Amino acid sequence: MSNVHLIDHPLVQHKLTLMRRKDASTNTFRRLLNELSSLMAYEVTRDMAMQDIEIETPLETMTSKVIDGKKLVFVSILRAGNGILEGMLNIVPGARVGHVGLYRDPKTLTAVEYYFKMPHDMHERDIVVVDPMLATGNSAIAAVERLKELSPKSIKFVCLLTCPEGIAAFHKSHPDVPIYTAAIDRQLNDHGYILPGLGDAGDRIFGTK
Ligand code: URA
Repeated sequence: MSNVHLIDHPLVQHKLTLMRRKDASTNTFRRLLNELSSLMAYEVTRDMAMQDIEIETPLETMTSKVIDGKKLVFVSILRAGNGILEGMLNIVPGARVGHVGLYRDPKTLTAVEYYFKMPHDMHERDIVVVDPMLATGNSAIAAVERLKELSPKSIKFVCLLTCPEGIAAFHKSHPDVPIYTAAIDRQLNDHGYILPGLGDAGDRIFGTK
């Protein structure tokens, strides 16, 4: 599938399997998500622009590389996105963070925004949007639409799991935004859950069920 990056590193796949198990405790699930998200951040930031700077080692002057441009922005789609956010910040601690809150209108089933807070200068920044489950795609599509109004330099979308329906819907609206995922599961069920999936990601992260 074009513009989908499947992160099939053995450590990522192993941790994801442990997370899927229904008997994984909240504590275990959250810890694994944190570790897995750090590994995913490593892959997602692989193509970041670099610049050469001159530094002094204890022995001599040298030209060496640092990341170029303004700080990256991680945008968490509330609330489950916060589970991925923490792990990503472990390895990119200087990143800026934005939050988008959306709920599903029970009548129209469309995503309605209730919170949107971003760092300044978004037009000069690269954005990584995070949400563990790309299922119907409605929240992700609405969040990216809203972020595009700020004309960022680039947008990537990162999830743990997705399914063919989620990918198709997201790419219909945003063919230019790459998806990074640890798995593409079989299908969506009638309630918008991914099968075989891992259940409700928010409930599993925060122990609310
Ligand atoms: N959101 C979840 O938390 N789980 C799914 O399977 C689908 C959407």
